[in-house]
Amino acid sequence: MTPRRDWIAMPGEALRGEPPVPGDKSISHRAILLAGLADGVSRIDGFLEGADTLATAAIFGRLGVRIDAPGAGVRIVHGVGIDGLHASGEPLDCGNAGTAMRLLAGLLAGQRFDSVLAGDASLSRRPMQRVLAPLRAMGARIESDDGHAPLRIGGGQSLRGIDYTLPVASAQVKSALLLAGLYARGETVVRESQPTRDCSERMLEAFGYPVAWREGEARLDGGHRLRATEVAIPADFSSAAFFLVAATLVPGSDLRLRRIGVNPRRTGLLQVLRAMGADIEAIDARVRGGEPVADLRVRHAPLRGIEVPVEQVADMIDEFPVLCVAAACAQGATTIRGAAELRVKESDRIATMAAGLRALGIRVEERPDGAVIHGGRLHGADVDSHGDHRVAMAFAVAAQVADGEVRIGDVANVATSFPGFGDVARSAGFSVRGAGAEQPLP
Ligand code: S3P
Repeated sequence: MTPRRDWIAMPGEALRGEPPVPGDKSISHRAILLAGLADGVSRIDGFLEGADTLATAAIFGRLGVRIDAPGAGVRIVHGVGIDGLHASGEPLDCGNAGTAMRLLAGLLAGQRFDSVLAGDASLSRRPMQRVLAPLRAMGARIESDDGHAPLRIGGGQSLRGIDYTLPVASAQVKSALLLAGLYARGETVVRESQPTRDCSERMLEAFGYPVAWREGEARLDGGHRLRATEVAIPADFSSAAFFLVAATLVPGSDLRLRRIGVNPRRTGLLQVLRAMGADIEAIDARVRGGEPVADLRVRHAPLRGIEVPVEQVADMIDEFPVLCVAAACAQGATTIRGAAELRVKESDRIATMAAGLRALGIRVEERPDGAVIHGGRLHGADVDSHGDHRVAMAFAVAAQVADGEVRIGDVANVATSFPGFGDVARSAGFSVRGAGAEQPLP
C-alpha cells in the first residue's frame, strides 16, 4: 500500500513563468498498447512518467514487449506484432488506472492465452460491467467479482464484431471495444450519443490501422496489422487545467503553458472558463503527432457563475474537480448537471468536492448528477482527497486563494497523473508542501 501523504497549502505568490506540464495520460496508455502490437520499433516522445501509464508499460513488459526508456518521457517499443503477446503467468496489476484496466480487458479478450487484471482498492470498486457486457456480446469469456476487478479473462475465444451504442459516454468503453475489434471477425461499430475523446481512433490511424470515424461513431474490421511509427504526445490538458484555474484566480498571475493538447473532445473546460470570464489565449495552434496542440497564456480575471452546458460535460469530464474550485471563487452560482459519471471516477467526485468545499466555507447543493456551487470566500480547513489525484490538486489550487492554511489529506496518488506536481506548482508561485514528508512530493 502507498503510504498516506498530506499536503499543506496556502496562498503563495502571483503565478508566473512556464510550468512544465507532463504528457497526456490517455494518449500515453494508447501509445504503449499500439506500439507493442505493431510490427517494428516505435519511438514515443512526451510519454507520461506517471504511475498509471507506468503500470500499462509494465504490463506490456510482462506480456513480452521490450520497452526501453533511454530518457525521461521517451520510450522505444519493440513491437511484437498483433499476435505476438504471450501469457504473463501472474495477475497484471493496473494499480489505480481505470484506463489500463478497461482498455486491456478489450485487448486481452482477443488473445490466445488467459489473463487476470487486478487493481488497487479504488479501482476494484469501480464499475467494469460497462466493458464486460459488450465484450461478452462479442464472444469474450470474462469472469469478475460482481462486475468488479479482478477480471479473469479466458483466452482462445473467437470474437465477432458488434454494432454497439454506448449507454454511458465513455472513451474507455469505446476503446476497449475497438481493441477487441482488432481480433474480431467482421466489423466492430461503436456509436455514442455524446462524443467522447477520440485518441484511440487517431492513434490507430497513426499506426496505419484502417479505422473509419467521425464524431459519435467509430468502426473497424478485425484482421489488419499495425505499423510502427513515431508518436509525439502533447502535454495533458487535464494537468494544465490546474494552472489555468489557479492563474485565473490568483491576482497578478500570468502563466504560459507549452504544447498543450487542445483536442476539442478534451477542452470543454476552456469554453466554460471563458464563459465565466477567464482570460485564456491559445497561441501558435498546430497539429503535432495527429493531435491539435497550442500554447496557452492565462492571466488573472474575475469569474462569474454559469450553468455548465450539459453538452460540454463529456469534453471536460476529468476537469470537474478544478472547475468546482473556480465556481467556488466565482461571483454567483454555478450549476453542474448531467455529470453522474463523476460518482464513479477515482472517487465520487461530486461528494468529495462538495464535502471539501463545504469544509472551506462554501455553500454547495449536491445533486445526483451534479451540484450547485455558490461562490464565496474560502477559509483554511482540513479536506480529504479520498486518494483521488485530481481532487488533491484541485484543493491545492483552492488553497492559493484561501484565507488560511488548507491541509489536504491522502495525496500520494497525484503521482498517477502528475508526478512532481508539488515542485512544478511551487516553481510557478504556489505555496504547497508535504506534511511529515520523507519522500519527494508527488
Ligand atoms: C479516459 C476516459 C475517461 C476519463 C479518464 C481517461 C480515457 O473515462 O475520465 O480519465 O483515457 O479513455 P471514461 O471512459 O470512464 O469516461
